[in-house]
Amino acid sequence: MATIHDTQVAPQDVEAFGNRLLEMMTGASLAMMISIGHRTGLFDVLAGESPLTSYQTADKAGLNERYVREWLGAMVTGRVIDYDSETQTYQLPDAHAALLTRAATPENMAATMQWFAVLGQVEDRIVDCFHNGGGVHYSHYSRFHEVMAEESAQTVVAALHDHILPLVPDLGDRLQEGIDVMDVGCGAGRALNLLAETFPSSRFVGVDFSEEAIEMGRQLARDRGLTNTEFIVRDAAQLGETVRFDLITAFDAIHDQIDPAAVLAGIRQALRRDGVFLMQDIAASSHLHENLESPIAPLLYTISCMHCMSVSLANDGAGLGTCWGEELAQEMLRDAGFGEIALHHLDHDIMNTYYVARQG
Ligand SMILES: C[S@@+](CC[C@H](N)C(=O)[O-])C[C@H]1O[C@@H](n2cnc3c(N)ncnc32)[C@H](O)[C@@H]1O
Repeated sequence: MATIHDTQVAPQDVEAFGNRLLEMMTGASLAMMISIGHRTGLFDVLAGESPLTSYQTADKAGLNERYVREWLGAMVTGRVIDYDSETQTYQLPDAHAALLTRAATPENMAATMQWFAVLGQVEDRIVDCFHNGGGVHYSHYSRFHEVMAEESAQTVVAALHDHILPLVPDLGDRLQEGIDVMDVGCGAGRALNLLAETFPSSRFVGVDFSEEAIEMGRQLARDRGLTNTEFIVRDAAQLGETVRFDLITAFDAIHDQIDPAAVLAGIRQALRRDGVFLMQDIAASSHLHENLESPIAPLLYTISCMHCMSVSLANDGAGLGTCWGEELAQEMLRDAGFGEIALHHLDHDIMNTYYVARQG
């Protein structure tokens, strides 16, 4: 028995936890390297290839061989990439390529690994918040909107037609006929632009307070030659719209608001009498103990602490946090005047709950 703070501790318990900590270090290291593999295109060039040397790999990707070889070292010892020591060649197994390449979208988990480096940028600021309160402004997270757009391409855009729109009966038909749609916290506007392209008779407004994100949305609309979209830089707490929209969407955009109650009330006010609010937000319970079995709960609380809660608190906001949860979400929707609320979970998306809310 070891003794810590006058308490007897079983050595096997210490060893077991030590092993878990080691696994965490390995996982954290590989997450960072997988993110780099994604950004440099290394997984894409290795996918479907016969075994390559580090020189061939670097050449094919247009990268520096010494860095590529070190990255391969992490990938091989992490059992992500296979290595033949005789020929000194590397190969990405097809089963791994199925989860690590751009061709694998929407299953590409390498894109999601980018979050750790994005969040790591603000660690000093977050530590300061632990001491002094406050938060970290959106502007301190470089690449946020770029990585978010990739995430959105996987969770929202790829599933929009087959899974998300069918959650609202007849919505496809109404969009075909021509309705007014607003996306609140639209980010880089990939979902909105896809809707606009598919339903040319409908009119689409994207609102976000980030100039950078709105410019990305406008650019995409220009690239696609769309004339039925409008992107507006605006605080979602001051939508200032009355009975104008048939459909309002918010994809992953309510929990990190400064004043989420005002945003929800503004959305309700902006909807026509038979309008629908379709909200995608994080799948969690409002009660910590009920999140214990969720395999992604530590990730959710981490993203919350390092971003979602913090960006809200930076403006003296509500700081709901990523795991505000289904219970509180429904309560806030009711308080905003939505009398009819249905919750849906989609097989492809363990991260989110989909709410279909009407005035009722
Ligand atoms: C997590 S991102 C989601 C973006 C997009 N809906 C998507 O799925 O890719 C949240 C978005 O809400 C926007 N946002 C946060 N607070 C806002 C506010 N007060 N007014 C308008 N937009 C806001 C952010 O700029 C960001 O683009």
